[in-house]
Amino acid sequence: MKNIQVAIDGPGGAGKSTMAKALAKACGLNYVDTGAMYRTVGLAALRAGADPLDGEEVPKLLPHMHLGVRYIGGEQRMFLWDEDVTDCIRTPEVSAAASAVSAMPPVRAYLLRTQQDLAEECSVVMDGRDIGTVVLPRAGLKIFLTATAEERARRRFLELQERGTPQPYEQVLREMNERDERDTKRAAAPLRPAEDAVLLDTTAMTEAEVLEKLMQLVKERWGE
Ligand code: DC
Repeated sequence: MKNIQVAIDGPGGAGKSTMAKALAKACGLNYVDTGAMYRTVGLAALRAGADPLDGEEVPKLLPHMHLGVRYIGGEQRMFLWDEDVTDCIRTPEVSAAASAVSAMPPVRAYLLRTQQDLAEECSVVMDGRDIGTVVLPRAGLKIFLTATAEERARRRFLELQERGTPQPYEQVLREMNERDERDTKRAAAPLRPAEDAVLLDTTAMTEAEVLEKLMQLVKERWGE
């Protein structure tokens, strides 16, 4: 059977995970969320009492982290040792920690193999920041999803409200801009579209429209 690899990159709040998950479901592929892996490293650093910005201390924690990625009922779950931390990694504090640790080359190297192995094992829709450029440079389809910062902040604001952890819109927008700046400017695997990526601005699109467009691209690439 052919190994299908769809890489979806883009800034936070562009709808990557929602759309990647929906596309994977519609096409019978596995959804791999690499941001969740960086978030788990960020959480582990916070729990260890480390400063997530400390590029010397955080890498030293990696061998003791016992980070696990498991698929339960078709869903990716993140583990630290035997604890399922999937629901603990969505707080603003962990978001900031994830952005900080993801700038560290040893952290990226630590997660790269896991991500590549998952894509070897089965057909995937994988989302992140460097999937098309670094993790799966030979992916058959690369998408770069964007939306304006204001629209992405609006979506994240609503998401936080739904989760019962609301934050003022202005704060969400400010933190999102800070994260974008760090993700784009870092030296190690910065956020940028691969040369052969399809750019898709979702600012004025509904989820259904984005999904339709993505499914059309998959069909064009691999057939029905
Ligand atoms: O997509 P997300 O918000 O869950 O990602 C969390 C952080 O991890 C984000 O600041 C960027 C970083 N990240 C990365 O550097 N590379 C990836 N492939 C995925 C996420």
